[in-house]
Amino acid sequence: MSDKLEIKVCVGSSCHVKGGSKTLRTLELLIEKEHLDSKVELKADLCLGNCLEAPNVVLDGQVHGGVTPEKTEEFFNLHILPRVQS
Ligand code: FES
Repeated sequence: MSDKLEIKVCVGSSCHVKGGSKTLRTLELLIEKEHLDSKVELKADLCLGNCLEAPNVVLDGQVHGGVTPEKTEEFFNLHILPRVQS
């Protein structure tokens, strides 16, 4: 069992079309920039069943919709950083 924060980015077709792969790449870069490799586990996933709100990101099992590439940094600052800095 890992105690890392698990982040899954949907790259299924609906999410991919709305930028999911770019969201994944942006998260990769932000994680690298903040040196969080040891604290988070970033994965790509396939359809999470929430296509209407694509692109979707799952944080420790909770689905967050509408994480477009443009909103990724804000999402990271709001939802990811506070969880790994405490
Ligand atoms: S393709 Fe991402 S939730 Fe369906």
